[in-house]
Amino acid sequence: MKALFEVMRPGDPDWALAESIDAARLPKHIAIIMDGNGRWARKRSLPRVAGHRAGVEPVRLTVETCARLGIDALTLYAFSSENWKRPRGEVDTLWRLLRFYLRREAPDLMKNNIRFNALGRLEVLSDQVRRELDETRRMTSGNTGLRVNLAINYGGRTELVDAMNAIVDEARSAGRLDALAVTEEMIEARLYTAGLPDPDLLIRTSGEMRISNFLLWQIAYAELYVTDTLWPDFGRKDLLEAVLAYQGRDRRFGGLSTAAKGSQEDDSLAEALGVSLR
Ligand code: FPP
Repeated sequence: MKALFEVMRPGDPDWALAESIDAARLPKHIAIIMDGNGRWARKRSLPRVAGHRAGVEPVRLTVETCARLGIDALTLYAFSSENWKRPRGEVDTLWRLLRFYLRREAPDLMKNNIRFNALGRLEVLSDQVRRELDETRRMTSGNTGLRVNLAINYGGRTELVDAMNAIVDEARSAGRLDALAVTEEMIEARLYTAGLPDPDLLIRTSGEMRISNFLLWQIAYAELYVTDTLWPDFGRKDLLEAVLAYQGRDRRFGGLSTAAKGSQEDDSLAEALGVSLR
């Protein structure tokens, strides 16, 4: 977290927010559905692509802030498998912006010790895009800090289908298809996110209350945080606010909160009512 204060000054609006964050309870993995680029542009009577262009800087700033905060992993939803339905010009712009980002940010990824990866059905992307994604991945593979994942041509259902097919194919090749019994561990090991912890915090910008086919398996117990801020306006303050909100949550993973677990009140009440559940 110390590294975060190096890029802020006391008195900055973000300073007090950063000071309120408990460095010992940071989310390990933050996932973000970056939404609202089109609306940001429309509000300014600009073409939608201007919103995407304005969305590049928040990507840079969010990556840098997560690295300086000491977050382990950040996964950004950059292009869904459904985004191909958009007009050709918009899709082309998104690919151009991705390549621009990779080229421009490579030195900073190295400087900030960031590991880059891309998640999704990448085999259908153009050779050029795949080559650049691969180069960035290879170049940063020796880094040990924040793991940044861009979800590209990503769909949560497709990811699960790919994982299941991989399990079936492997069992068939090993001649063990008849005895195949699928477990959670087997699925997890074949997801695009294998080896990453599940997201603790899922942020969505622009106020939409949807998951949009993002990390369906992995967000089973993620804390959800939706902000009305449109992605091009998403700044350090918004990220810190989301982390603070996360730290205010009572994470139970289907169990009880520590307070409820310690309370005798429920047992006494059940006894008084003659309710026995044991
Ligand atoms: C959603 O806004 C955003 C996207 C589909 C793409 C995200 C792309 C960027 C942030 C640009 C740069 C990305 C990288 C990785 C360099 P929307 O167009 O659905 O907005 P709307 O709902 O207001 O129409």
